[in-house]
Amino acid sequence: MSLLQAARQVRENAYAPYSRFKVGAAVRGKSGKIYQGCNVENVAYPEGTCAEAGAIAALIAAGETEITEICVVADSASPVPPCGGCRQKLAEFARHDVPITLATTEGERLDTTVGALLPGRFDISHMDRA
Ligand code: THU
Repeated sequence: MSLLQAARQVRENAYAPYSRFKVGAAVRGKSGKIYQGCNVENVAYPEGTCAEAGAIAALIAAGETEITEICVVADSASPVPPCGGCRQKLAEFARHDVPITLATTEGERLDTTVGALLPGRFDISHMDRA
């Protein structure tokens, strides 16, 4: 299964009764394995989690820590970029040059990188004097 297919497939399971906006994400670990995640909303709105966070949790739970490729799919007019928080979460486990494909369910694609989505990111070097 391709990363895009994996993201499309898991999107079907998204729990999004409040926004009605289902999102699917798939990340590839260094091992080559694919990990999937979907958004999981909550009646207490801020408690909801994004698709990207779910995919990262699955990768970590499987014992991996390095992402080599990312795909996010939503039913939107144009490819949906990850929210700011998810950019930082992805950057924790993906190098700047890791490719990320943002896609619509209709097949429109935007190919970019983790670094391009989060220039000037906060990283461990900023804590050198701590
Ligand atoms: N959402 C994601 O899961 N990932 C994104 O990249 C953008 C937004 C979810 C959060 C919420 O459940 C719904 O989309 C609307 O914001």
